[in-house]
This record gives sequence, structure tokens and C-alpha cells, in this order.
Amino acid sequence: MLFLGFFLCVSPIFTRALDNGLALTPPMGWLSWERFTCNIDCDNDPKNCISEQLYMDMADRLVADGYKELGYEYVNIDDCWMERKRDSSNRLVPDHKRFPNGIKALADYVHSKGLKLGIYQDVGTNTCAGYPGSQGFYDIDASTFAEWEIDMLKVDGCYADPKDMDDMYPKYSIAVNKTSRPILFSCEWPLYQQQTGIKPNYKEIAKYCNIWRNDHDIDDSWSNVLDVIDYYAANQDELAAVAGPGHWNDPDMILAGNFGLSYEEAKAQLMLWSIFASPLLMSNDLRNIEKQFSDLLKNKEIIAVNQDPLGKMGKRIKKINNVEIWVRPISPVVGSKYSFAVVAFNRNTLGGPQNVSVQLSSIGLDSASCYIIYDSATPEKKTKLCPKDNIVIKVNPSGATMTIAKLNKNFFFKH
Ligand SMILES: *[C@@H]1O[C@H](CO)[C@@H](O)[C@H](O)[C@H]1NC(C)=O
Repeated sequence: MLFLGFFLCVSPIFTRALDNGLALTPPMGWLSWERFTCNIDCDNDPKNCISEQLYMDMADRLVADGYKELGYEYVNIDDCWMERKRDSSNRLVPDHKRFPNGIKALADYVHSKGLKLGIYQDVGTNTCAGYPGSQGFYDIDASTFAEWEIDMLKVDGCYADPKDMDDMYPKYSIAVNKTSRPILFSCEWPLYQQQTGIKPNYKEIAKYCNIWRNDHDIDDSWSNVLDVIDYYAANQDELAAVAGPGHWNDPDMILAGNFGLSYEEAKAQLMLWSIFASPLLMSNDLRNIEKQFSDLLKNKEIIAVNQDPLGKMGKRIKKINNVEIWVRPISPVVGSKYSFAVVAFNRNTLGGPQNVSVQLSSIGLDSASCYIIYDSATPEKKTKLCPKDNIVIKVNPSGATMTIAKLNKNFFFKH
């Protein structure tokens, strides 16, 4: 027994994160909830109701409009896709009218486009909108999703006691693992716990979830986005410690292209979500999006920072005249030194663009071999700066800029 106990303590199974080979970088794609919520009125609003047509339309746009080639690959169903009752063998049934061909046919369509399909359930007795939840049916639902060839499963936490989630989410995750289909597992476990005053155990959560929502649902307003950013800043040491390849914090959907955020605000959200190493799941209408927003969502430099293979989450490290400086270590690494993405986020709402001047060494950019520096909006304009130099950043109110500072692996050979 003593020997066994020792073995269990050192066994990597008990210290590792969820090992399904998925989400080595934060997942990217599209999720219906924020924009289309629980619109089930296909009679009066056929283009915008939760139906197989909506997800096929978005899959089409992801491919035809160039999102897919940049990494946006998940097409994710959220709540309200089901019939109100399970069938006679307790299996979930998609709404007959809105998903007449069933979920497997939709998965086949999405897969034929080179994309992946996500779906939604709940650890409790009901989904948040009142449809049948998975409690008591984790194994049967997991095998149903595997048969349908689902690629990602978002598991909500309505109609469940947050105290029981330390038991429920692992059970569901293990049920999914047992199907032997790799399915990206998305949790809301810490969100419900922290809302009821329970301190989430992130080490444990990372063993069972690929991504997890920490804070409240996002809606289409700047004040809501600011709340999320402040939550991340206030908890950044704890959250950064648990983020990494295979397991990520999830501050919820990207809003660019909707109604509530200006272009500057949408840009700030996308840049900060990239500093956070967060999933980029857009919730917008890709059939109907202004070019400046689609161009923003397709900015290769911002996406590359989000998808940086090191998977280190960045932090807010300085404030200058109400402009926050957020810094994320990225590749390439040379010796013991990182490259960095620096986001200047202007919290001022009065006046015009601000100029901030930041000495590189004051924000941790201290490599004696210096940095190649460029702005995410103008990657062709590169300069070389050393730790004693200052970068001068011009940033609009309620807006952000992203500066990328890369070490050059070949620096010593070039000179
Ligand atoms: C199931 O879990 C084991 C152990 O962590 C892992 O090696 C395997 O890849 C997982 N399988 C799936 C399909 O997620």
C-alpha cells in the first residue's frame, strides 16, 4: 500500500492537464449565442433563428470569406437546438423543424468544408433556456455526440449546484474521453463557482477542461467588455499560471461586427483577448459585416499573437495617464529571452489620441541584442530598438494598439 501511494503521487496522470491532444493553441471559430441567442422563431425570422441553415450559412462564410485559412475553424451551436424531451431510449433529439436533417448531417456538411462542429449542453438537469440537461445522462450524451462526430462540446452550469461541479464536470469529461473521439471540452465550472463565492481550483479544472469560462456572459456593450478586462487584470497572476497549450481561460465571445462596440472598442477587445491567450470565438453575422470589422478579425499579426505556440498569457504591467500597458511573452525565444506583444489600451474617454512613450526596459524588454519592432496595423514598417530606447505609441480613446517586438535569432550572425 505504501508503495502504491508513492506511485500515485508521482504519476503524471495526477498532475497533467486534460490530454486529448486538442486546443494546443486557443480555439478559433464562431459561436451563435451572443448574436442569435435563443431565437427559435423560424416562421417569422428564418434567416436568424437557431437552425441548421444558420450554421451552414456561417460555415459557408468562414470558408468563402477567408476566415478559415486564418484559423477560424469551429462552427459552434449553442443553447436551444433540442426538442423539449429525450426520446424513448433517453437520447437527445434535435428540434425536428429547425434541424430537419439531424446533427450528423450538419456535421458532415461542416466537415466537408474542412471545418469542425461544436455543440452545447449543461451539467445540470436543464440547459439555461430550459431544454433537457445532461445530468444523469453524461455517458449516453457523450456517445451521442461522438456518433454525430461533434468536435467541441460547451457544457453550461445552469440548474446545477456549483458545490457539486467539482464532481459533475470531471464525470462529464471522463464520459467524453471514454467515447474515444477527441472532443474539445469547454466548461463553465469556475464561472458558476466564483459567482457563488467558491474559489475555483484551476489546477483541477485544467485536468478536465480545454477551455473554461471564468466570468459572466459577454453581451454587446462596452461596459460589459470593460468588466471582463478588469476581472482579468485583477486575477491575472492566478489566471496566467493556469493557461497553456491544451488549457485556456475563456473570457467569452468576440463581438466585432455587431451593434454595441465602436471600431476602436472592437479592436481593443480583439487585441486584449490575444494578450489573454483566449479562444477567438466570434458571435456576429458573417453574412452581414462591415469591411473594417472583417478586416480587423482577419488581421494576421493579431491572430499570430493570439495563437503563439508558447501559450503564455500576458499581463497588465503599467499604467501611464490612464493608458494600460499589457505585455505578453511570445516566440521566438533566443537564449533565455522572449519576444513580446505589447498592447497599449487607452481607458480615457475624453479628448483625442494619446501619445505614450515607454522605455523598453521598463516593461521587461531587456535583451541586449535588441528587438525588431512593428505595429500590427503596419507590419511592413519595422524599426530596431534596444532596451534603453523608448517606443512612442499613439492610441485612440477607448482603443488599443498592438506593438510586436521580436528577437532575431540570426542577430549575432548578421553583424
Ligand atoms: C483520454 O484520456 C487519456 C488519458 O489522459 C488520453 O491519453 C487520451 O488521449 C484521451 N482520449 C480522448 C479521446 O480524449
